[in-house]
Amino acid sequence: MEYKNTLYEKSEGIATITINRPKALNALNEETVLELLARLKDAKKDENVKVVVITGAGDKAFSAGADLKMMKGAGAVKGMHLSQVGQKLTTEIEKLEKPVIAAINGYALGGGLELSMACDLRIASENAKLGQPEINVGLIPGWGGTQRLPRFVGKAIAKEMIFTGKMIDAKTAERLGLLNKVVPANELNSTVTELANELMNKPPIGLELAKQLIHNSTETDLRVGLTHEAEAFGILASTEDFKEGVTAFLEKRKPEYKGK
Ligand code: CAA
Repeated sequence: MEYKNTLYEKSEGIATITINRPKALNALNEETVLELLARLKDAKKDENVKVVVITGAGDKAFSAGADLKMMKGAGAVKGMHLSQVGQKLTTEIEKLEKPVIAAINGYALGGGLELSMACDLRIASENAKLGQPEINVGLIPGWGGTQRLPRFVGKAIAKEMIFTGKMIDAKTAERLGLLNKVVPANELNSTVTELANELMNKPPIGLELAKQLIHNSTETDLRVGLTHEAEAFGILASTEDFKEGVTAFLEKRKPEYKGK
């Protein structure tokens, strides 16, 4: 595959995927979404990759959403396919066994916000602005926004954001639970790297099972969710990493996890 719209860097266990169309505020056309899917596939297969970071090039935008030039005059079938390809991307992020952090360095709008909501953790710079402005061009969110946004902020705020298309600032998004943390722009990279390094020292199977259980918690009833939690707990109790964790605790040293 020829990569034109994304960058990919792997360094010390962290794979960073950068949407690289800064002149178009990192708008996501279909080719870019397919590139992101391919980058994720690589990060999934590469055993050396422990944490994935997704960000946007430049200092203005994470992503201003689906590329409106691509959407223009789409028609029903193309429109449905464009929605499906973005939904595939967000689903693959949620299914990935490794933690995914969104580093939001400016606008996260429409499909950009939807992409970030599929990530496990969202760290944003103070200048970030988040919104679902699709209504302003006669659309609704098509990459999961009507489903994931209310799960973060509740139906009332989700309706307000989707009905009005208005953006919210980073501090408001943090207060609403949409962002994990807001930092000055010049501290975004270091904060994300610090968080990624912290996660890299955790037992990978524990992170994977916790991620799956938390995603499934909104898809299942409490009894079934608790049953799955007990099963996962049992699986973890049989891992070498659990043995190492407890031994390290008792020996008053740092554990070294192997993902086994
Ligand atoms: N698609 C294509 N191009 C885009 C874009 C988008 N979503 N957003 C910005 N751009 C382009 C602009 O066309 C412009 O390109 P040119 O220089 O070639 O004209 C360039 O990026 C810079 O944008 P602006 O000049 O508009 O920058 P600004 O600072 O004045 O405004 C903005 C920034 C408020 C984010 C504004 O660009 C904007 O409103 N963008 C559209 C946001 C939007 O509606 N997103 C939703 C898309 S639909 C969607 O995502 C559906 C879905 O759920 C999947």
